[in-house]
Amino acid sequence: MAKKKILIINGPNLNLLGKREPSIYGNQNFEDYFKTLKRKFPKFNLKYFQSNHEGDILDMLHKVGFSYDGIVLNGGAFTHSSIAIADAIAAITTPVIEVHISNVYAREAFRHHSYFSKYCAGIMVGMGLKGYELAIRFWDLKKPTVAF
Ligand code: DQA
Repeated sequence: MAKKKILIINGPNLNLLGKREPSIYGNQNFEDYFKTLKRKFPKFNLKYFQSNHEGDILDMLHKVGFSYDGIVLNGGAFTHSSIAIADAIAAITTPVIEVHISNVYAREAFRHHSYFSKYCAGIMVGMGLKGYELAIRFWDLKKPTVAF
């Protein structure tokens, strides 16, 4: 059987993981963590994409959102501002899990609202980088609890 295809999308400033506010986001860069993820999930075909540009994230959602089995999306600050990305998540058929490394609810009020959550299959918040791994496990469930 073909491996399930899952794309991780990281939005703005997440290319700086490891250097950026380590007390909030930790010391590891995502490229290294992605290697760990690939080792941990040999049964999945995992891909990774990062962009600081809203339009590029939209284009990628359109490109994979009708053929991939899953998308793990950390939209960074676009989570709190982008109706366009929310509309794209609603438009595509691939289920999206929203991830935030930090506990956004323990931070500034402007981080408490996500335009994306309503259209996502699930949300993983405040688990550090581990949240990506926990999100990927959603596609390991024999019978996901939500119907798509
Ligand atoms: C973030 C939380 C967002 O509020 C912030 O803008 C980010 C990262 C997180 O992973 O905790 O860039 O999505």
